Amino acid sequence: MTDTKASLSLEGLDAPIELPIYSGSVGPKVIDVGALTSKGYFTYDPGFVSTASCESKITYIDGGAGLLMHRGYPIEVLAEKSEYLESCYLLLHGELPSKEEYAHFKNVITNHTMVHESITRFFKGFHYDSHPMAMMCGIVGALSAFYHDATDITNPKHRLISAHRLIAKMPTLAAMCYKHSQGQPFMYPNNKLGYAENFLHMMFGTPCDDAKVNPVIARAMDKIFLLHADHEQNASTSTVRLSGSSGANPFACIAAGIATLWGPAHGGANEAVLSMLEEIGDVENIDKYVAKAKDKSDPFRLMGFGHRVYKNFDPRAKVMKETCDEVLKELGLENDPLLNIAKKLEKIALEDEYFIEKKLYPNVDFYSGIIMKAIGIPTDMFTVIFATGRTVGWIAHWHEMLSEPLKIGRPRQLYTGYDKREFTDIDARPAVNPPHLP
Ligand code: CMC
Repeated sequence: MTDTKASLSLEGLDAPIELPIYSGSVGPKVIDVGALTSKGYFTYDPGFVSTASCESKITYIDGGAGLLMHRGYPIEVLAEKSEYLESCYLLLHGELPSKEEYAHFKNVITNHTMVHESITRFFKGFHYDSHPMAMMCGIVGALSAFYHDATDITNPKHRLISAHRLIAKMPTLAAMCYKHSQGQPFMYPNNKLGYAENFLHMMFGTPCDDAKVNPVIARAMDKIFLLHADHEQNASTSTVRLSGSSGANPFACIAAGIATLWGPAHGGANEAVLSMLEEIGDVENIDKYVAKAKDKSDPFRLMGFGHRVYKNFDPRAKVMKETCDEVLKELGLENDPLLNIAKKLEKIALEDEYFIEKKLYPNVDFYSGIIMKAIGIPTDMFTVIFATGRTVGWIAHWHEMLSEPLKIGRPRQLYTGYDKREFTDIDARPAVNPPHLP
């Protein structure tokens, strides 16, 4: 980081404040506002739209240019030339693995895919119709009770063991959530299969048959994991970092990330896309829903469109669209009614002045939702699959943060509540207080 200075003049101060400016390797310069507190100021940035919360070497996004890079490699290159686990290695270790390193890494991950048998008993406490994301939050958090052999977060080897365990066990747990909802027996992982293939085997296999996983579908699943692997300081990653900054257990931190991912403005969007398509119901209704999305007085939004960072196009969506076409062709679903609505909606929105002007393009979740629906994955599992792919990103950021001296995350606020006031005795209070909740 090279250091220049910004000079900030503020009312009531004798002299301007000098603030350091840092240059990253690429991207906008960053003003270090740390010195403002001692002068009696906080900065105010709801939604963190212009705040860098940390320094990182993992992922870079240029939303305007539609660029996403992991460790310097554009996402479309990784999607074309690597597979998910190779990109996991890259995210965790900073470099692409050699042949030997990759073989070793795959072997380590494969040997951690099973979960403790006691985990199966946790599932018995969940209703059959529990949302799988609710189960994932609980079960991943519960993993923190199982691994006391590697909880020294100051030890890089311990951190790596937790990383391997999480990457390996997430597909197993995700498939268990699905099997629980179906009332089917859990499938054990098959260590002869690849990462995505194994996941599909645990999802759709049963002990009664040894159905083979379609390689086109396995490749698509691998791409879904890869395209979701990391996305810089998004809401769930920032949550994992914030939780981890207190020194918390890694499994508990990832559970916090899963909880954040669940919301429809973040990872829950892929599920929301399918609910929206079902609500639209027929291509004839599309115009009505596009009008609703444009109506300021209507809270309805086109799910799977728009992004906080990408204001040009989402590079992941480009790759996902190609994969989507391959999967639909392979499964002979080019004329599925719901998928037809999706295709028409995409076309109309891409040509509509409102969406063009506001730079609202289909995002990765629009296409990943369609692929997963075509594969036969129920909509409430979509975000679980996102969480499975994103786990490596969360854990890479957690690991990176803990590799540096640790400072607990502690944002400040713009307080607009009461100033200090006298306590009123209960008998002296009015019969009805003015409403104070929104
Ligand atoms: N449909 C209709 N209008 C929209 C949409 C949409 N999907 N998204 C944004 N707008 C409008 C919004 O009403 C606003 O209009 P105006 O300027 O007139 O007030 C303008 O576009 C800017 O929207 P914003 O909410 O200020 O933008 P944001 O950057 O805060 O929000 C977003 C980004 C992704 C939350 C939002 O676009 C959205 O809600 N999209 C639908 C949900 C979705 O698909 N989320 C998945 C994101 S990708 C997965 C991930 O990375 O987590």
